[in-house]
Amino acid sequence: MELKFNKISNYKQGILSDLLTDAYSFDSKWINAYGDKWCEEDRFFFDNLNIADSCGFITTLNDEVIGFIVWDPRNIPEYAIIGHNCITPKYKGKGYGKLQLQEAVNRIAQKGTKKIFVSTNDDLIPAQKMYESVGFEILDNSTLESWQIEQNCDIYYCIDNAIIRKFNI
Ligand SMILES: CC(C)(COP(=O)(O)OP(=O)(O)OC[C@H]1O[C@@H](n2cnc3c(N)ncnc32)[C@H](O)[C@@H]1OP(=O)(O)O)[C@@H](O)C(=O)NCCC(=O)NCCS
Repeated sequence: MELKFNKISNYKQGILSDLLTDAYSFDSKWINAYGDKWCEEDRFFFDNLNIADSCGFITTLNDEVIGFIVWDPRNIPEYAIIGHNCITPKYKGKGYGKLQLQEAVNRIAQKGTKKIFVSTNDDLIPAQKMYESVGFEILDNSTLESWQIEQNCDIYYCIDNAIIRKFNI
């Protein structure tokens, strides 16, 4: 088994939205609500390959593409926000989503980033379990910061660099 984290620029436009479509295919509500946005975001990364390659990667297993992750670096070193991340249905539940997330957390932490945020929804249980298994902690929703209001999600998580160092992620 060989897991690799590859540059997005090695692939063709459309791969990110295709991976999201596949990963969220368990319920058509996701593609109905977000399909157009996924295509737009895919276009953004392929129009800005320098951003794509410094703020994300595509994961392969024995050279087969199985997922990707991207993040928003604009507030580094104060904080970064993990964006889309997914694993194709065939390979879910085998620990690859966690390894992919850990690799992203490591890359972000290496830039001296103080905190990493991520958000998700109540019904995305595997995502919640994955963030928690990497050491992310749920934020109190009583006061939302601007990035949280923008994302309009149910659950917001944070991991800070002390926890990243403690768990040696
Ligand atoms: C979320 C996602 C990336 C997780 O990837 P994955 O490879 O299936 O997850 P892993 O196998 O690495 O599991 C990570 C942790 O979550 C747990 N987990 C995974 N799937 C689970 C499930 N269906 N139910 C309960 N726990 C689950 C695992 O047990 C593991 O916890 P552990 O380390 O304590 O054992 C994947 O399910 C996915 O692509 N989902 C659709 C897109 C999505 O929700 N993206 C995140 C948006 S916020």
